[in-house]
Amino acid sequence: MTKVIAMPGNPGIGEVAECVASPGYLRAAVDHGVDLTVVGPEAPLMEGVVDRFRDAGRAIFGPVAGAAQLEGSKIFSKNFFAKYSIPTARYRTAESLEEGLAALDDFTAPVVLKADGLAAGKGVVIAQSMDEARTTVRQFMAGELVGDAGRRLVIEEFLMGEEVSFIALADGENLVPLLPAQDHKAIFDGDRGPNTGGMGAYVDERILTAEQVETVMRTVMRPALEGMRREGSPFTGFLYAGLMMTADGPKTLEFNVRLGDPETQPILYRLRSDLAAVLHAGATGGLKDVVLDWAPEPSVAVVLAAAGYPGKVQTGDSITGIAAAEALGAKVFQAGTRWEGRDLVTSGGRVLAVTASGATLTEAITAAYRAAGEVRFDGMQYRKDIGKKGLKRW
Ligand SMILES: Nc1ncnc2c1ncn2[C@@H]1O[C@H](COP(=O)(O)OP(=O)(O)O)[C@@H](O)[C@H]1O
Ligand SMILES: [Mg+2]
Repeated sequence: MTKVIAMPGNPGIGEVAECVASPGYLRAAVDHGVDLTVVGPEAPLMEGVVDRFRDAGRAIFGPVAGAAQLEGSKIFSKNFFAKYSIPTARYRTAESLEEGLAALDDFTAPVVLKADGLAAGKGVVIAQSMDEARTTVRQFMAGELVGDAGRRLVIEEFLMGEEVSFIALADGENLVPLLPAQDHKAIFDGDRGPNTGGMGAYVDERILTAEQVETVMRTVMRPALEGMRREGSPFTGFLYAGLMMTADGPKTLEFNVRLGDPETQPILYRLRSDLAAVLHAGATGGLKDVVLDWAPEPSVAVVLAAAGYPGKVQTGDSITGIAAAEALGAKVFQAGTRWEGRDLVTSGGRVLAVTASGATLTEAITAAYRAAGEVRFDGMQYRKDIGKKGLKRW
């Protein structure tokens, strides 16, 4: 494999890939003679893009629609956890206002309310009082918060602990774990303010001990792979467990069925193995003997977000300083960017993720922030404490 095609792509990936407009994914794969297709976002997975490629005999890395339900429906996934004894928060489900209000009787505040369907990160509310919980159930059921996705709910107990993102490659039969990462969901320093898609992440050996990694593999990841096999939809692709490391051990908050942003940036930054070869092995049932080679230095990604994020954002602002940041040794991954003539401008909430590593986590943090300091656009906002949580461990 010698060439990468991105659909639709953006100016960042455009530096290493040919960006093409979509005439339909399968059509494009045939037209360009693509050897391996890797699916990024969740929506096409749930729509069955992997099933269609398989039927056409083309290699693709991602789950079939039946397995993508792990992310697509929180009710499906909670029932799946129960069926296969995967540790998770105690829960009830509700499909009407009456059921929702009745289910609340089984919980005390704070209580967690989750829309069943895809909600682009806006489907979870942690209610601090039972009054707030009742109001929120009413709003979800009325379709006011996330539309129809919220008319079916999971109501679950609030768990305390450190959150960890644990991602593994799966080929239906075998799992190869990536390095555990920690995201920072809240918009402001100290984990304050509303939740976002993620304001930064880091990867450091101290996030989980080797023993904790083995516990996660034994209690969460392998049962999930085995469960999907028994359900008749063997899981191929990136299996992402959002975990809460509680006093009672790891509990599964949710599964995603793709790589997470911004965890992917500091994880892949450290990967020395040939990613294309590994993903091809994943798509063709060949992960059994794959061992990944990682750079040992901790890595940190700081997200630079647009004014207004996570609410309505300002776009169209000129971005400068990416080359200067990369001259310092960082990699600046682009998300919400586009070309306006010859100007690179903002086009979304999370604009860039400035990623760097260092001999220690402290040095990695310093390197990422020094590079981020080179970048400028109007209204740019970012957290100043990405990775700090990791300094408190051990
Ligand atoms: N049971 C829980 N206890 C405490 N916090 C939770 C719980 N479930 C979810 N959260 C918090 O809410 C965030 C979003 O929940 P998650 O299940 O990951 O849904 P989504 O990513 O689809 O919005 C989590 O990252 C976590 O911070
Ligand atoms: Mg999540």
